[in-house]
Amino acid sequence: FSVDWDAGAAEKGGWDSFMDKEIHEDPAAVRNTLLGRFSAQGDIVLDEVRIEPEVFRAVDKIIVVACGTASYAGMVAKYAIEHWVRIPVEVELAHEFRYRDPILTPRTLVVAISQSGETMDTLMALRHAREQGSHVLAICNTQGSSIPRESDAVLYTHAGPEVAVASTKAFVSQIVAAYLLGLYLAQVKSTLYADEIHEVVEQLKAMPDKIQWVLDNVSSTVEAAAKRLVNSRSFLFLGRHVGYPVAMEGALKLKEVAYTFTEGFAAGELKHGPIALVEEGEPVVVIVPSARGRDVLHNKVVSGIEEVKARGAFTVAVAEEGDPDAERYADVVFWRPQCPTLLSPLVDVVSLQLLALDMARLKGYDVDKPRNLAKSVTVE
Ligand code: G6P
Repeated sequence: FSVDWDAGAAEKGGWDSFMDKEIHEDPAAVRNTLLGRFSAQGDIVLDEVRIEPEVFRAVDKIIVVACGTASYAGMVAKYAIEHWVRIPVEVELAHEFRYRDPILTPRTLVVAISQSGETMDTLMALRHAREQGSHVLAICNTQGSSIPRESDAVLYTHAGPEVAVASTKAFVSQIVAAYLLGLYLAQVKSTLYADEIHEVVEQLKAMPDKIQWVLDNVSSTVEAAAKRLVNSRSFLFLGRHVGYPVAMEGALKLKEVAYTFTEGFAAGELKHGPIALVEEGEPVVVIVPSARGRDVLHNKVVSGIEEVKARGAFTVAVAEEGDPDAERYADVVFWRPQCPTLLSPLVDVVSLQLLALDMARLKGYDVDKPRNLAKSVTVE
């Protein structure tokens, strides 16, 4: 008597790919990254970060260095940290940063974001920063890897091992970790009141359920859209504010696993070039900000949808549940449950991860091991 035992399938725990499994672990990745980081009063306690509060208090600029998906997590965090802490946050691709002459001082905090902790370009960038006397904090998903070992401090994301080459659950956990860092800085620098910090913390804690809602309620719409669009040769993604890096990440996912030519760009740039690409049937995915509170942003993005639609685009909106404009102008809507704008990337990216997965599956590709790509790029 023998049982066929496929270790790979067993590790996938019933999912047909690691990417599918890992997207479904997005809620847990967020939940676990928040665990143990608050005092009973709701203050942020980053016990494992061994940089003195005085050093944090003195920080007058942040430079995030990262590659790929991790760099988009950094771009999202820029919006939140600048808003909360009122210091400039620059986000730079690690390989660009290391070959120029960046302005670094002991008051600059360099934040290296890396899922694997082994990306050579990011490692070299952090060495470049430390040589010039800046403090480096790593946001990393892999205990004991090179990037945290060579940094002054580390904030681990607790997404769990990520196997699929295209990063999914690590991305949401990187945003959460960077937000915790931002809130911690706001706390030590007193740029937010304790009440304001507690409110964001509560909103963050509500995000895993909202992500789960997307997985439960939006997956079938995404699948139908993927079927409709599977033969499209290119996709455009546009977003504004925090929706901009989400658009870039959505575009990256689709090119990585479905080999579709994609471009993500800031919605405001549409008229400065990308609209020339729009022809009959061109899929355009638009991240629509909530209509609550930030009407200006919402209306501007909606008018972008109208513009591309008038030129024959097939429009997919990622929009807040019940948004009548999204309903009216988009051919398909991936709904997001209500949440504060700064936290919306945590839910919006999930639909785009699913879209990439479905497209790749429909094309019969190996979603976990896309051609030409490696999970961690340990060479220059
Ligand atoms: C590779 C992976 C990407 C990842 C990037 C950065 O290109 O395929 O998914 O975003 O490296 O990796 P890191 O481990 O530093 O986050």
